[in-house]
Amino acid sequence: MAAPGAKTRVQAILLLALSLVLSSHVVSAFKDNEFKKCAQTSFCSRNRGVQQGQNFEIVPASLVLNTATLTATLSNKPASKTLQLTLTSHADGFVRFMVDELPGVGRYQVPGDVLVSGWETKKAAFKEESRSANQIVLSSGDARVELNFQPFTLAISVKGQPALQINSRNLFNFEHRRTKQDSDPAGYWEETWMSHTDSKPKGPEAMSLDLVFPGFQNVYGIPERATSLSLRPTNGAAPYGEPYRLYNLDVFEYLDDHPFGLYGSIPVMMAHKKGLTVGVFWNNAAEMFVDVVKPGRDTAVQWITESGIVDLFVFVGGSAPAVLASYAKVAGTTALPQLFSLGYHQCRWNYKDEADVKAVDGGFDEHAIPYDVLWLDIEHTNGKRYLTWDSSVFPNPIPMQEDVASRGREMVTIVDPHVKRDHAYYVFSEAEKAGHFVKNKYNNDFDGWCWPGQSSYLDVTSPAVRSWWAEQFTLDKYQGSTKHLYIWNDMNEPSVFNGPEITMQKDNIHFGGVEHRDNHNLYGIYYHMATAEGLKLRGSIVNPESGDRPFVLSRAFFSGTQRVGPIWTGDNAAQWSHLKVSVPMLLTLGLTGLPYSGADVGGFFGNPDAELMTRWYQVGIFYPFFRGHAHLETQRREPWLFGPETTARIRTAIRGRYAMLPYIYTLFRAANTSGLPILRPLWYEFPEAEELFAVDEEFMLGSAMLVKPVSAAGASSVDVTLPQGARWYDALTGAMVPPRTKSHRVQVTLDGIPVYYRGGNIVPRRERPRRSTAAQANDPYTLVVALDDKGEAAGSLYADDGRTFAFTRGDYLHRDFTFKGMKLTSTAHQEPGLPAGTLTLPLTVERVVFLGLPPARRGYKAVIGGKHTVPLEAGPLSMLAAQAENALVLRKPDLPVSHDWTVEIVAA
Ligand SMILES: *[C@@H]1O[C@H](CO)[C@@H](O)[C@H](O)[C@H]1NC(C)=O
Repeated sequence: MAAPGAKTRVQAILLLALSLVLSSHVVSAFKDNEFKKCAQTSFCSRNRGVQQGQNFEIVPASLVLNTATLTATLSNKPASKTLQLTLTSHADGFVRFMVDELPGVGRYQVPGDVLVSGWETKKAAFKEESRSANQIVLSSGDARVELNFQPFTLAISVKGQPALQINSRNLFNFEHRRTKQDSDPAGYWEETWMSHTDSKPKGPEAMSLDLVFPGFQNVYGIPERATSLSLRPTNGAAPYGEPYRLYNLDVFEYLDDHPFGLYGSIPVMMAHKKGLTVGVFWNNAAEMFVDVVKPGRDTAVQWITESGIVDLFVFVGGSAPAVLASYAKVAGTTALPQLFSLGYHQCRWNYKDEADVKAVDGGFDEHAIPYDVLWLDIEHTNGKRYLTWDSSVFPNPIPMQEDVASRGREMVTIVDPHVKRDHAYYVFSEAEKAGHFVKNKYNNDFDGWCWPGQSSYLDVTSPAVRSWWAEQFTLDKYQGSTKHLYIWNDMNEPSVFNGPEITMQKDNIHFGGVEHRDNHNLYGIYYHMATAEGLKLRGSIVNPESGDRPFVLSRAFFSGTQRVGPIWTGDNAAQWSHLKVSVPMLLTLGLTGLPYSGADVGGFFGNPDAELMTRWYQVGIFYPFFRGHAHLETQRREPWLFGPETTARIRTAIRGRYAMLPYIYTLFRAANTSGLPILRPLWYEFPEAEELFAVDEEFMLGSAMLVKPVSAAGASSVDVTLPQGARWYDALTGAMVPPRTKSHRVQVTLDGIPVYYRGGNIVPRRERPRRSTAAQANDPYTLVVALDDKGEAAGSLYADDGRTFAFTRGDYLHRDFTFKGMKLTSTAHQEPGLPAGTLTLPLTVERVVFLGLPPARRGYKAVIGGKHTVPLEAGPLSMLAAQAENALVLRKPDLPVSHDWTVEIVAA
């Protein structure tokens, strides 16, 4: 939850009382003036659009090319700054462009443990194509790199097409470390914002990168903000006259359709046009501002950072999947989550006591709605001392968790990085004694205000602090915890209620003497990492053989968070516009390597009505992370509290999620092995269709399903855009959409939203309604075979124990299904570099549902394994929502899921 935007507890209570008075309508309380704009920020205003230019040049005599590495001196006259430029060529589809001062200056670099290890050494030699007095041209795989000396520019093309220019607008700048001079302008050595003064002991050290994507009209990425998928120009009307900002902040009541940066930052941008996708990643954790303008047919970006170095990765694989696969080599892929965490999560600030927990848990069973996890927010603790319990309301936390677990479910408690300054609280006293807290500029433990009042903040940038923190999660250390308890990290931007912009002072000091200015955007990932390490440690103790996978949700994030755990989009509101913007927000996270994410279903602030609640669940079932959550002051909103009709609709939606889990888990496996997104923009699947490049009101779940949310009140119809060149089948009725339907108006009722299967795909499902994922474990599968124009389809199924790391040793099942020449076959899926799957499950395929088989006069029959014959019958697509009989169904073929088999479809 967000900071109350108040400096004291008393103020917070007053605010609460006031908002209760006003609670009949949602007040838009985003306090624009509590956050800095570019013009109010010295490094941004002095670099934004530096029109005169800095005129950097390469010193030709300095240039050295040594296989995969080119180095040269960059300097500018008359200021004669001397910089080191390094260009490296890597085997995994990228080129790295670095600029730093001379060695010894010691500017901050993002530590290696934020990214994966080992990628630096996998280099591929540059090939020298040509060299002249003013230019060198190199190639690396499909990329051609042209470095011009005077003036300095760098142009990269991929497969013969221009992809990226650096400094073609002469906006490149790099502020040297300097000694203080009387003539220095205001803002160089000290900067004041509201009541806060930043002492800036290192002075100015900003950089400006000038990037042009030639011929690209659409760029994406640089989360997190609540705005469109295709980034709008920042030279537009307010609020789009401000650059996008990357600075992790706890933004109270954020607005939709706004460029303002929220809780997490991924400095990754992707540009796409017909025939080419290119990606860039600036590995830098300081505050950033990014201007996007669209002159002519190009997109031009000025990217300004307060400190650190220029460390730009350019991904040259040419397509979005290739860009993401290369980025994953550096930042990592999504950790395969425990299966339970892909079920539905029920959260609220707060489930009050043990009786409340029992009642909510029982409510799901009473209303036959599946769910997997019940969450406890900050009120479960003893006075916001995390890892403790308020014994007046949670006197028996272990039996409580065991009771929930007896029905195959799990629990989550919140644990935040601010530690109450109370010597009687063991976490504080141990951490204080060991010197584990972030220091202020006077080298004392930083003392800031957060939920518990006066708090200090664990310095998780230190590996030793992270190990100590991880140890706090073993069952003997965390009193009242069981192996069924998982963790939620909130407020890890970090949120400091009385700090500048509700975070920490930039002149605070971390491990190694690093200023908070340099690593601000890493605080969240390091805290998340340390907590996840804690659950991993616990998992290796409770399950020494294979280790249990961790589950830790975080609000703040950076590049690499995908290796740690999921994030959610923070404190949204119960408004239609927030439902709508959740889609581009999650699509953007998928395009920047962090697909395991979700938005709070129902909206955190305010009270959704039955219609908004229904529509939100209908979309939420497709979010990779699927949780309902609500603010303390809102009315209760468990799924059965909106009347029987709404309960039935929400039940249908959530059961639909559970039916899709075999498909969703298989998508997670692809995210785990190859960095692929789970929710995908339409253009990702149809990269040549220009009319789709900016579409963000629809999305794909994997490659097989297209979803159109209904995000307006009272809608009786919506316009659906269906990409051309594919066949589409209504996922409720199974009816094929007439060919060449581009955009069409679809009638909707409150019972559902438009969802389609894309012809050419085989989708595994489990259709028996159960109370949780654990209860589905022995259920048979259904295969939906949706044929394309050639009468073919393909898909796969991944399964493992859903819980441990045994899959990393090959303890998994992965099958490929193909339908071709009227034959459906199942074969083992093989992926280079991975151990072969060795898991055998005694489960069967109980139904095969064909969509799009051409009409046959006397129907069809299936010949199974060349032997026994079963007729195909007209039937509904799904057992969950028996509607029209537009599918041909093979019932009870009893095909063993772990083995090879063939089913031939022949005319009856
Ligand atoms: C997949 O996720 C697991 C953690 O769940 C991780 O150990 C592994 O490195 C990831 N990647 C691959 C290719 O398995």
